Amino acid sequence: MKITIDGPAGSGKSTVARMLSEKLGFLYLETGLGYRVCAYLWMKNFPNDEPSWEKLKPLLEKIKIEPLVGRTDVWVEHEKVNDLLTTEEVGRVASQVATLKELREYLNSLFRRLLEGKDAVVEGRDAGTVIFPEAELKIFVTADPKERARRRVEQLRAMGKDISYEEVLKAILDRDERDKNRAVAPLRPPEGAIIIDNTSKTSQQIVEEILSLLKERERS
Ligand code: DC
Repeated sequence: MKITIDGPAGSGKSTVARMLSEKLGFLYLETGLGYRVCAYLWMKNFPNDEPSWEKLKPLLEKIKIEPLVGRTDVWVEHEKVNDLLTTEEVGRVASQVATLKELREYLNSLFRRLLEGKDAVVEGRDAGTVIFPEAELKIFVTADPKERARRRVEQLRAMGKDISYEEVLKAILDRDERDKNRAVAPLRPPEGAIIIDNTSKTSQQIVEEILSLLKERERS
């Protein structure tokens, strides 16, 4: 069984997806990490260039993505790089490499291969529209951009990073713009998705909501 959870940056979808994966014992695939690790490799190898598929392609064989219950591990050669992928800069470059059509096709077929025949919670921007449109349950999480920025600032400060609210809000609005308006796989709710507004709910409440939806569907 596949459950997809899509939504914009900072909507809280990762927390919901992680908690749901743990509750159900399903694998958790955070697809954004696929784009983030490509951005990280790009910044290391070609810091001054605009991302291109031709130059990115040979770097991809260094990457390993491992969906586990409650987390997704990402490796570059033998180094686990999860902690290096959380910066705003990596997020910004990730949304640029994410516009490369060939990269999206490459990652999508990798994601499908990794989860073939497995129960999984798949989280991203196009998990329910493109990667697993046949998923049994599709969720789209939204939240007010101001609330998303406030949460992100809190998260970054907890990690010891000092960044202004205005800066984060601008980064979120810019990223939304790019993710919604790109030609390939733009961010939008999948057909048949349940839309959940996370502006004034806790992740726990949303997980409970999704679990009762699953129970309802099992009964019918
Ligand atoms: O979810 P995230 O913030 O880690 O994603 C980083 C960027 O990767 C985001 O700006 C858009 C891109 N992305 C995507 O295009 N498709 C996905 N399925 C996941 C992420």
